[in-house]
Amino acid sequence: MTNEHHTMRIGGTRIPAVGFGTYLIGKEDAARAVSDAIAAGYRHIDTAAGYQNEYEVGGGIRDGVKRAGLTPDDIFVTTKLWPGNAAWGDPPKGYDETREAFEASRHALGLDVVDLYLIHAPSGGDQRVAEWRALVDLKAEGKARAVGVSNFTEAHIEELRAADLPLPDANQIELHPWSQKPELVAYLKAEGILPIAYSSLVPLSTWRAEPGQDSAKTDEMKADSADVASPFRTLAERYGVSEAQVLLRWGVENGYPVLPKSLKPDRMLQNIDIFGFEIGEEEMANLRSLDRGDGVAWATGDPRGMG
Ligand SMILES: NC(=O)c1ccc[n+]([C@@H]2O[C@H](COP(=O)([O-])OP(=O)(O)OC[C@H]3O[C@@H](n4cnc5c(N)ncnc54)[C@H](OP(=O)(O)O)[C@@H]3O)[C@@H](O)[C@H]2O)c1
Repeated sequence: MTNEHHTMRIGGTRIPAVGFGTYLIGKEDAARAVSDAIAAGYRHIDTAAGYQNEYEVGGGIRDGVKRAGLTPDDIFVTTKLWPGNAAWGDPPKGYDETREAFEASRHALGLDVVDLYLIHAPSGGDQRVAEWRALVDLKAEGKARAVGVSNFTEAHIEELRAADLPLPDANQIELHPWSQKPELVAYLKAEGILPIAYSSLVPLSTWRAEPGQDSAKTDEMKADSADVASPFRTLAERYGVSEAQVLLRWGVENGYPVLPKSLKPDRMLQNIDIFGFEIGEEEMANLRSLDRGDGVAWATGDPRGMG
């Protein structure tokens, strides 16, 4: 079964529970990967201005929908504002620059409307509220169906409320059994903000296994795992699935859309095939004890941790 029938509510619209992630997919691979993902059954694609592949992702969407007998409207597309980061010598964007960046992304993707537009990170500093105001206006004008943030803490979201602005429809954050962020997730759920999970596959030994792809924090988080029998392997054997499928299923059972990235067609198929089994309540409770804290993304000062 594909994910077409599995969607979650986000603002006034719906988002397919499994999306195809495109971080670290270069220009040379992006169109083919996205087209293959749509052929494999994905109806949701996650990209960002910062991934520098929006143009190729747009081409892949057009090719993929043709192959699958669909139209571009059948695909839910997320892209993200690169907000700037003064700490990296990259001046934060203001209101007008945010709107210009949105137009550039929309143009690169070849879309009239973006399903979900996110502020990629809270690094806009004193421009953060102006950036958010621009996203709120883009939604009101019908140019984005839903708008949200990524890597925001509760304090960053409360700053938007204090500015008398509507709250985000979603917050895209690193979520997997080793980084569960229970307080932030409880806050998001209480406020009607959808948590979207990225880097769901961090606990796998194959996660960003290619040289130069993992973040400085990955080794630290994985340090004591080599000798521990993997609870994910035990569950995978019990359900007759892969460890990746267990990790992705954990996300959707918690109510989070997941965004697995793979360049390998067999993994693309596997990562979307997570609706034929269920992790029981007791197992979900056991998995809650595996939390190891903040996660591996966005290691301070290390842009390689970025997604
Ligand atoms: N908002 C943010 O700040 C942020 C940050 C990070 C990620 N994201 C989004 O979330 C998406 C997913 O996160 P991610 O790319 O960090 O990592 P991910 O999807 O959790 O994991 C991808 C890694 O796992 C491997 N893999 C994929 N499927 C597998 C399987 N079935 N079995 C074994 N290994 C498998 C991939 O290798 P192969 O490609 O070789 O298969 C790759 O090394 C990103 O692409 C991006 O769209 C957003």
